[in-house]
Amino acid sequence: MAVNAGSKVTSRPRILSGMRPTGKLHLGNLVGALQNWVRLQDEGKYESFHFVADWHMLTTDYADTSDLQTHIYEMVTDWLAVGLDPLKVTLFVQSRLPEHAELHLLLSMVTPLGWLERVPTYKEQLENIKDRDIHTYGFLGYPLLQAADILIYKAAYVPVGEDQVPHVELTREVARRFNQFYGQVFPEPQALLTPSPRLRGTDGRKMSKSYNNAIYLSDPPEVVSKKVAGMVTDPARKRRYDPGNPDVCPVFDHHKIFSPQSVIDRVNRECRTAEIGCVECKGLMASHLNAVLAPIQSRRKLYEDNPQAVWDVLDEGTSRARRVAQATMAEVRKAVKLV
Ligand code: TRP
Ligand code: SF4
Repeated sequence: MAVNAGSKVTSRPRILSGMRPTGKLHLGNLVGALQNWVRLQDEGKYESFHFVADWHMLTTDYADTSDLQTHIYEMVTDWLAVGLDPLKVTLFVQSRLPEHAELHLLLSMVTPLGWLERVPTYKEQLENIKDRDIHTYGFLGYPLLQAADILIYKAAYVPVGEDQVPHVELTREVARRFNQFYGQVFPEPQALLTPSPRLRGTDGRKMSKSYNNAIYLSDPPEVVSKKVAGMVTDPARKRRYDPGNPDVCPVFDHHKIFSPQSVIDRVNRECRTAEIGCVECKGLMASHLNAVLAPIQSRRKLYEDNPQAVWDVLDEGTSRARRVAQATMAEVRKAVKLV
């Protein structure tokens, strides 16, 4: 079996996933997506394509693009830092492949408006995002652009979180409709659900850059320790000798992901009996978390010392992706009788 993604002959089914360039990534991104990407890479069962969804970023953040390139650089540096290996996977930037936009346009011809208006993320975001105007053509088309991303690589699987499943479902419907009109061009992709353990931010809400409650992969040990020290715990533990319930505590969620089993068991026991205090418990968690982050940060350092290497990885990956995208578009234009 071909291991090098650059080689021409490969019989492995392809997986494809994108991420909007939000800048430096946090622990939520690590457990929610990146660890899964790395696991899939190492299993070697699939040919992996991962890309920076910068056009998707513009659907909501069109008004100020001044940080866009920095955010792309920081995010991809984190991808490499966690162990995505450009010799095994293909990493690229969406906007460098106008083929995605062309396919998006052609798919828009056959996609009923109602399909897009019904997408749950669309309805939710229209209600929730108040600080920007997203009553735009581009935002409505967000999931259709995603469908184009997926179909242009004829991906078999799309590793995503629960919230993205309706987008993959829409992709399947659009593929079916296109194939009905123009003949069998696109296989129907399937979501590959990421089993993601819950990871809340320091304030107990979902970890998110915009909530200012995130611990970043690139946070130095002292910053991590300080953020952990400030985390909310079980509110029942007001005093040191109040027993607690680790099941409701965000610190314990982190233990379950980053600490060895013996520590998890101990905290699970001693929190309930108030044998361990929150200060000690947090100190333990911070040190195990820092041990997990140390190798990520030393790999990151190599790329920070040579930023051009990150852009080179994206150049190389983009030309690999381009070969596939161009081949599909040649087939699509022919099917639609545009040649
Ligand atoms: N919508 C995805 C997210 O917010 C990002 C994305 C864009 C994507 N295109 C994709 C994911 C294609 C998987 C496949 O997470
Ligand atoms: Fe949370 Fe640990 Fe305190 Fe228990 S001891 S409430 S798990 S921080």
